[in-house]
Amino acid sequence: MKKVLLIGGAGFIGLNICKHLGEKGGYKITILDNFFRGKKDEVLTGLVDKYDIEVLTGDCTTPQAFDQLAKDYDNVYMLASVVGVEYTQKIPEELIRINTALIFNTLEWLKTASVGKVVFTSTSECYAGTIEQFGYTVPTPEEVPLCIDDIKHPRFTYAVTKMLGESGFIQYSKAYNFECTIVRYHNVYGPRMGFKHVIPQVVQRYLANENPFKLYGHDQTRSFNYIDDAVSGTVLAMETENTNGEIFHIGDDVAEITIGELVRYMGELMDFKGEYEPVEAHSGSVSRRCPDVSKARRVLSYSPKTDWKEGVKTTLEWYIDYLKSGKDVFE
Ligand SMILES: NC(=O)c1ccc[n+]([C@@H]2O[C@H](COP(=O)([O-])OP(=O)(O)OC[C@H]3O[C@@H](n4cnc5c(N)ncnc54)[C@H](O)[C@@H]3O)[C@@H](O)[C@H]2O)c1
Repeated sequence: MKKVLLIGGAGFIGLNICKHLGEKGGYKITILDNFFRGKKDEVLTGLVDKYDIEVLTGDCTTPQAFDQLAKDYDNVYMLASVVGVEYTQKIPEELIRINTALIFNTLEWLKTASVGKVVFTSTSECYAGTIEQFGYTVPTPEEVPLCIDDIKHPRFTYAVTKMLGESGFIQYSKAYNFECTIVRYHNVYGPRMGFKHVIPQVVQRYLANENPFKLYGHDQTRSFNYIDDAVSGTVLAMETENTNGEIFHIGDDVAEITIGELVRYMGELMDFKGEYEPVEAHSGSVSRRCPDVSKARRVLSYSPKTDWKEGVKTTLEWYIDYLKSGKDVFE
């Protein structure tokens, strides 16, 4: 039995990792979360009933949250974070405080605990400025220098804390005898990802009969990475030998599409017959993003499998059912 801890494990990606490990078998899983975003819903309780999962509640911005943990874990997935562009705009100072404190407290706890390996979850936002300012290659490999466009822009508070995390986890792992691998996600999507992402927001706007339908950032590109593929890449990064100190881009390198294409496809699925109106993107939004995942393919045997149209259709149907059931919109 491998002992696995997921900090921030009740969230979108964390709970899907729990499901994946539960199905695989051979894991004793602990989730530590403050339920700021994660939900104690029927999905979580269903997994707890089915697999060996313990759920602990604690706010990792306080060191006491870690007192309830065991002293030893084979694997620790560090997923806790305040996530989402909206928070960077509304509460940038809080985002800095929370993300910095939970990274720092996790690192200090790791000094005293006996942990085999940690995966720290980072983001493509860490190099958003590099592409815009210096015209680096797209698809973008891991070696690209990390850079933000404008230190005064609140959007980049999130990327700044993730850069701190990447550096912090790598340096602490060298100093305090645990292994560490970084994964940088690129637009992960799927059912139950919350309502602060482009897909659920577009579903809500179609259901509200917006017409003409505004295509914000219509010509910008993204490579959406379906949740099952992102989970498989993350677990491979954790479990593949000889990946200590390595950074992997986890994303989908075959699915680069424009936001216009995505929204129009969703419109087709929802039988939208109205007009479209292209609109400028929100400021700070990167014009093109696509990861080079050849390193993950080569070293981890990572292979994203979900066709974007299939993944978007599954996600859209989940959101329509959820909204029509009258349940609350959640963060
Ligand atoms: N979803 C994506 O596309 C994406 C892209 C890039 C990076 N990431 C990173 O991957 C990780 C997981 O992302 P996600 O989409 O599952 O986000 P999420 O918001 O669904 O999950 C994060 C979890 O952290 C928990 N959390 C927040 N503050 C906490 C605190 N003080 N103490 C304890 N728990 C706390 C939340 O309650 C939530 O359950 C995050 O670190 C995120 O930055 C995600």
